[in-house]
Amino acid sequence: MTRDSTATAATTPPFATTATAAPFATVTTPGPLRAVVIGAGFMGRHWARELAAHPDVTQVGWVDQDTDRIAEALREQQGEQQGAVRTGTDLAAVLAAEQPDLVINSTTPAAHLAVTTAALAHGCAVLTEKPMAMNLAEARALVEVAERTGRLLAVNQDRRQLAGVAALREAARRLAPLTRLEIDFRLPHQAGPYVHLWDEPLLREMAIHLFDAARSVTGADAVSAFGRTYRTPWSWYPGNCSADVLFEMEGDLAFAFTGCWTARSAFTSWSGSWYLEGAGGCARWDGVTAPVLTAARGENEPEPPAVPLPVAIQDSPFPGLAEVLAGFVTALRTGAVPAGECHDNLRSLAMVEAAVASARAGRPLPVER
Ligand SMILES: NC(=O)c1ccc[n+]([C@@H]2O[C@H](COP(=O)([O-])OP(=O)(O)OC[C@H]3O[C@@H](n4cnc5c(N)ncnc54)[C@H](O)[C@@H]3O)[C@@H](O)[C@H]2O)c1
Repeated sequence: MTRDSTATAATTPPFATTATAAPFATVTTPGPLRAVVIGAGFMGRHWARELAAHPDVTQVGWVDQDTDRIAEALREQQGEQQGAVRTGTDLAAVLAAEQPDLVINSTTPAAHLAVTTAALAHGCAVLTEKPMAMNLAEARALVEVAERTGRLLAVNQDRRQLAGVAALREAARRLAPLTRLEIDFRLPHQAGPYVHLWDEPLLREMAIHLFDAARSVTGADAVSAFGRTYRTPWSWYPGNCSADVLFEMEGDLAFAFTGCWTARSAFTSWSGSWYLEGAGGCARWDGVTAPVLTAARGENEPEPPAVPLPVAIQDSPFPGLAEVLAGFVTALRTGAVPAGECHDNLRSLAMVEAAVASARAGRPLPVER
């Protein structure tokens, strides 16, 4: 493990809100970056597959509190890496033995604070699953550890990397100034038992993706949130899994989110259903196929055709993950700030926090910066 320069955040993604990133150490070893995955569940297995496909990364370790899960995951990887990957339940021991450059934290959210802190303190860069932590206060504590240790901490918000979201970012430029964004999300989903630790699982576990993607598409941060959350009478969740939130975004843009994880009909995709309006007309996206753009027209003019926007083909079992990993590796090699960098991600988490607090208070509340 060779770390040399402390790179200053130099690059910013185009047309995206950015908080100031802190300097972080880059890695200049000649061989592939050494990676340890923590968590061998649903996401950990996807990440192991992505690491195996990246030419500049080698997975050297896999930690889970449940050894059966690792064994099962390794069998699923068809034995490709079994000889080379150190496994165990003791995170500190695996880090000490393997000295990885980076850690992928794919544990359940309640473990994010401890696992990410331990990995950063060991000198590793961390790419963590969303949400960065159980709440904004824990996430802020993690950002402080990243600053203190001078290590890169970024959050996987893979929706940003979807071809449809990239097309909407482009559409946003053509429609500007933007006036309104609507995202509807409706699925009947049985999320992992870990979400039951939250009163507001839909907002904290799922909506974070869509709030973050909304920032990425519009280039605007949230100013205030007015939320209402509830349980449908047939809900199988102890917490609230239905929410309506109206955000006031920078630039007088309204962002209306509706979500339901106990939907009975009219299901949307996992990326929701989008309507984006501006002076130039509107863009719509079903979250799956190419977004379509409809140009503005006068009251008595005929409706112009809805024109599909060009989208790149993403042929992957989990679209967006490869792009997230590529950005993180480039960041570690060059010092460029990756999407999902922790300081920027706090602004998406702050939207969740404000929506939850507003629902409790019954009135609009500012979104913290
Ligand atoms: N990016 C996405 O679209 C997406 C999709 C699903 C889940 N997620 C996120 O990924 C994370 C994991 O979700 P999942 O569905 O893979 O959960 P999971 O329950 O399938 O897997 C989590 C694993 O972490 C292990 N674990 C928990 N605490 C640990 C600890 N302290 N040390 C070591 N191992 C520990 C568990 O034993 C389990 O094997 C969550 O943060 C979740 O929000 C992201």
